[in-house]
Amino acid sequence: GVTLDIQPDSQALAVQAADFIAAQVRAKPTLSILVATGNTPMPTYAELGRRAARGDIDFSRVTAVQLDEYLGLSDHDPRSLWGWMERSFVTPLGIRQSIRLADPAAFEADIAALGGIDLAILGLGPNGHLGFNEPPSPPTAPTRVLALTPASLESNRAYWGELSVPTHAITAGMNVILSARAVLLLVNGAHKRDILRRTLEGPETPDVPSSLLRRVPLTVIADEAAWT
Ligand code: GLP
Repeated sequence: GVTLDIQPDSQALAVQAADFIAAQVRAKPTLSILVATGNTPMPTYAELGRRAARGDIDFSRVTAVQLDEYLGLSDHDPRSLWGWMERSFVTPLGIRQSIRLADPAAFEADIAALGGIDLAILGLGPNGHLGFNEPPSPPTAPTRVLALTPASLESNRAYWGELSVPTHAITAGMNVILSARAVLLLVNGAHKRDILRRTLEGPETPDVPSSLLRRVPLTVIADEAAWT
């Protein structure tokens, strides 16, 4: 089932998303969370960081699981998505355990040992990719290495200024995402309007990987620019 929650702007979206995530952590303090980077969830993570700093919510027993990563970067490369997750989510929230995505088989074994993913926090790629599950990605697509599509190279340029976008990546598979107990999809801005429509109202197809989310417990929080 899909719940669609439209908020007036990105700040209201962040407060609503923070409420949703905080409620899940209160219900299960050892929550395992698959964590997207990208621009969309940053105000949500900042809001959660403020709540954690005030002592309103305790993330110390949560496990953060990395969603995706570029290949071929050194450990301290500023483009590392691991580094982005650590700076924006793990450190400000006071999370003590995180799982890094480096080797597909080891990653899926780590998730199995955790008892699976409780909550996947996802952004929406302009071509419907989730993590780096580029179209086409069937529901069974495993955690794997792949080449980025031109659309994703282009959209990811916005993150890195003068630095180039790495051409290859590793992503948590559709199998991992679709077996999460809950998925929170955050969508912000007019540039996501077409792909959000296709995600929720178009055919369920590997050509739009995000459309496959309709078969799992999905909450979409979007701003008005992305939906109306
Ligand atoms: C990127 C990342 C995803 C992210 C998505 C949306 O390419 N691989 O993890 O969720 O695309 O990014 P943004 O929120 O910046 O639009």
